[in-house]
Amino acid sequence: MKNINGKLNSESRMAALVTGASTGLGRFLALECAKRDFDLVLVALPNTGLQTVKDVLAASYKIDIHTIETDLSIEENILGIKSYCYENNITINFLINNAGIGFETAFHSLSANFCTKLIDVNIKATVLITRLFISDLQRQSKSYILNISSLASYTAMPYKSIYAASKSFIRCFTTALRTELKHTGVEVTTLCPGPIATNDEMRLRINSHGLLSRLACYDSSEIASLAISRALSGGSTFTPGIINKFNRFLMFILPELLQQKILDGLYASAGQDKPVIMREKMKAA
Ligand SMILES: NC(=O)c1ccc[n+]([C@@H]2O[C@H](COP(=O)([O-])OP(=O)(O)OC[C@H]3O[C@@H](n4cnc5c(N)ncnc54)[C@H](OP(=O)(O)O)[C@@H]3O)[C@@H](O)[C@H]2O)c1
Repeated sequence: MKNINGKLNSESRMAALVTGASTGLGRFLALECAKRDFDLVLVALPNTGLQTVKDVLAASYKIDIHTIETDLSIEENILGIKSYCYENNITINFLINNAGIGFETAFHSLSANFCTKLIDVNIKATVLITRLFISDLQRQSKSYILNISSLASYTAMPYKSIYAASKSFIRCFTTALRTELKHTGVEVTTLCPGPIATNDEMRLRINSHGLLSRLACYDSSEIASLAISRALSGGSTFTPGIINKFNRFLMFILPELLQQKILDGLYASAGQDKPVIMREKMKAA
């Protein structure tokens, strides 16, 4: 694990920990926290531009920013994040579990390594980080957890099989945690967004799903701003956007068989037509 040290934060300041902060939604979640004067602990894979994110934020905001370049699929690295905060006297007030891996292809074409990695990052890392920081969060008069699930969490999704299932786990886990912590100062929020144009791969995927998907799509900056405001006001599970809310409603009312038929029609070509960037990522895993 490679650490790039920032200055120490003073005890009275608020600090947010954001996983997956090098790019996509995470980068904008970090920006929204910086705007609200949180010091930052930013986590992402090594050599993925975290230092640049730090430099850009440091140029505009007078906050302390720490970066931890580490692979969250490895348990001891997660323990390392907690140790880093402890050793540097950083008290986390706002925990944001954003790092996640997605895909859109037939299950049989995923490597076993990719499947394991997805479960380790999307599920295991979120649970373990939350477990490691929960006592610190509970000790404070006010603190926050924001977990990033997905609209995909509301139904079984062919060609996004273990991704959607991992996001269902996050939604259920976070909702349960919110109930357990309702009499404490810890506010727990789940974000379940529809499509977000976070990177080139996502843009390709969203465009390939037609007009409705394009209309339901938001920018990372819009979603990040809504998500941070919602979390800091103690809001519960939420899905931004009218079309996405309507899609979620359909998932509640339509029979499962019909849902699966529609989703199969929408995503069946994904196996042959998956974006190149994702194919490379899957080969690498
Ligand atoms: N984009 C959407 O349409 C959409 C919709 C619903 C929910 N979401 C959720 O929103 C979150 C962010 O998505 P995004 O589209 O912004 O994804 P993204 O652009 O791929 O960013 C994901 C972030 O997580 C990091 N990450 C991935 N694997 C990691 C690992 N093993 N260790 C440490 N960091 C790791 C990535 O680092 P690298 O850059 O190095 O890979 C990156 O910083 C995810 O949880 C995703 O499931 C996204």
